[in-house]
Amino acid sequence: MQITYYGQSCFQVNIGGYKILFDPFITPNPLAKDIDITKIEADYILLSHAHQDHIHDAEAIAKNTGATIIGIWEIHAWFAEKGVKTHPMNIGGKWPFEFGTVIMTSAVHSSSFPDGSYGGNPAGFVIENDEHTFYYAGDTALFSDMKLIGEMYKPEFAFLPLGDNFTMGVKEAVMASRFVGVKKIIGMHFDTFPYIQIDHKEAMMIASFNEAELILPEIGKPFDI
Ligand code: NI
Ligand code: MN
Repeated sequence: MQITYYGQSCFQVNIGGYKILFDPFITPNPLAKDIDITKIEADYILLSHAHQDHIHDAEAIAKNTGATIIGIWEIHAWFAEKGVKTHPMNIGGKWPFEFGTVIMTSAVHSSSFPDGSYGGNPAGFVIENDEHTFYYAGDTALFSDMKLIGEMYKPEFAFLPLGDNFTMGVKEAVMASRFVGVKKIIGMHFDTFPYIQIDHKEAMMIASFNEAELILPEIGKPFDI
């Protein structure tokens, strides 16, 4: 499975012959200045919550590509009004898409749109098909119900926030990886803003000390997992 990181919490994942894009926040991110969003391909755009640093480029990319936005009811309603194709979900539900089944999981965070309107609850996603299962946590604190995600869906790896302050930090992410039963963590939500800058060396040390494999992805460089 090929994955490309576009900064903050944005990843493109090639799965089941489709391109799915998570939480696009690219054009305002100086770390992602070399990424041209008009070149990004997407069949589906999954939005974990309504905060600016997760949805900023969603409308533009959806309109460029014809991608369908998948999000909680309130996110669906907001984007449907802008003329974007959407699929509404809510926490605990699952739906079989062409690329695999999406399960919407809870996240402990907040969610409002840049204009202040209500964004519904924040969410995470489990994606599963015949070949792969993974967990994308969104913005969240560590919470013990992550163990249910491990028991129910048995993901192979997890996208977890690392930046602290607004979400869990590295230590909590290592515990989250235990809760969901994965060894491999793909880090996200770090370094974009001063509040979420992390010490890469220290993060790698904390992970290896706890026998977790931490990947700090490079922006714009595809990698296989
Ligand atoms: Ni957020
Ligand atoms: Mn965020």
